[in-house]
Amino acid sequence: MEVKNICCIGAGYVGGPTMAVIALKCPHIKVTVLDANPEKIKAWNGTLDSLPVYEPGLAEVVKEARGRNLFFSNDIAGNIEKAEMIFMAVNTPTKTEGEGAGMAADLRYIEACAYDIAKYSKSDKIVIEKSTLPVRTAEKIKDILDKNSTNIHFEILSNPEFLAEGSAIQDLFKSDRVLIGGDESESGQQAVKALVDIYANWISKEKILTTNVWSSELAKLASNAMLAQRISSINSLSALCEKTGADIKELSKAIGSDHRIGPHFLNASVGFGGSCFQKDILNLVYLCKYYGLDEVADYWHHVIKINDFQKKRFAQKILDYFGGNLNGKVILILGWAFKENTNDSRESPAIYVSNYLFKAGASLVIFDPKVSQNNIISDIENYWEIKYKESSENLLILDELETANLNIDCIAIPTFWSQFEKFLLRFSSDLNTYNKPIFQIKN
Ligand code: NAI
Repeated sequence: MEVKNICCIGAGYVGGPTMAVIALKCPHIKVTVLDANPEKIKAWNGTLDSLPVYEPGLAEVVKEARGRNLFFSNDIAGNIEKAEMIFMAVNTPTKTEGEGAGMAADLRYIEACAYDIAKYSKSDKIVIEKSTLPVRTAEKIKDILDKNSTNIHFEILSNPEFLAEGSAIQDLFKSDRVLIGGDESESGQQAVKALVDIYANWISKEKILTTNVWSSELAKLASNAMLAQRISSINSLSALCEKTGADIKELSKAIGSDHRIGPHFLNASVGFGGSCFQKDILNLVYLCKYYGLDEVADYWHHVIKINDFQKKRFAQKILDYFGGNLNGKVILILGWAFKENTNDSRESPAIYVSNYLFKAGASLVIFDPKVSQNNIISDIENYWEIKYKESSENLLILDELETANLNIDCIAIPTFWSQFEKFLLRFSSDLNTYNKPIFQIKN
């Protein structure tokens, strides 16, 4: 089966970049990215310097493919009807209420997609799980699709996304692997082949792994858990280094030089952030508990506990430096995104660290190169549970760092961006500010 028309529900950090790259690499396929949020679609169709997602290289890809075979639209019904293949790339946050609240994945957006697909489909479809989902979700999706349609065959594939924000376009161009899970039936294998053929336009065949659906669903959760576990492992050792005089950078190098371990994800940090690691591990923990594997659940839960410990330890170090009292102190917070080269601040350690310092009495001046003022304000209001307007005397968000006139007591860097280097050099050599400490975990 040759696919000519694809749509993707969800135009976020995954749907936008992945579909842009498919469209770029497959000019013979029409790719339409859909979203329930009209503002987001408007921004995807707007100027290239204000796309909803910031990723190095993304604007160039969108520039080439948009209007040729890449489209962004609110017409969910019409595009579902026309597509032969439908990707679901909607958000799957941690549940906040009901059974499994605080741990299990909230599947309401995925279920809404399935209802829409069932409602608007008039012919057979291949439906692809691009979102990260608990193992065996395909069963639930199939159930919704079959119960809400007649005489239409839906084939469900799992094709989890492994891109990392900040390097998404390079990751998509040169994936370590593409994973496709499908049913072992003949129609399942035909659907797998149709998706393999799309990726084969730019990914070599040996990097396209095909598995059963459940392995593919679980492999994504397990991959994120293993990555986060490395961060928590090295961060736990950074605490021990500080007690013993060992140097965490020297330790990382010594450990990572062992080819069985390797150097990646061994840099100490203020902790991991982003929308995925915490929610995916919690989801894994919930699944383990559900299947009665309490010891396994506890093992993975500790990866998150160490992450919380590390964020708190960083903030506490600043508080201790000032003798436990931050009243009247002004702290410059550099970096709000959860990592360099993205405008995504979901679960960013900066949110936690700044809240801790602010609640301990400090006034904060905040700067990030890509996270908008509005996003920073909404993070503050959502996570610190304060009204920005009522606290704005003690909170200043900068949109320019180089020219800012700063009178500060210290700098805290939850997320390092290379562009801070120049500023920090100036800061350290300026006689007026000399001797003010810079708190960071730099690699
Ligand atoms: P996002 O929040 O950036 O985007 C999701 C989009 O889906 C939003 O724009 C929302 O308006 C839209 N949406 C939700 N329900 C809808 C519906 N019923 N109809 C139409 N549009 C709807 O989320 P993001 O970060 O792109 O993540 C999507 C999935 O991909 C999640 O499961 C996540 O775990 C997974 N993932 C995320 C990665 C990342 O780095 N952000 C990497 C790999 C996987």
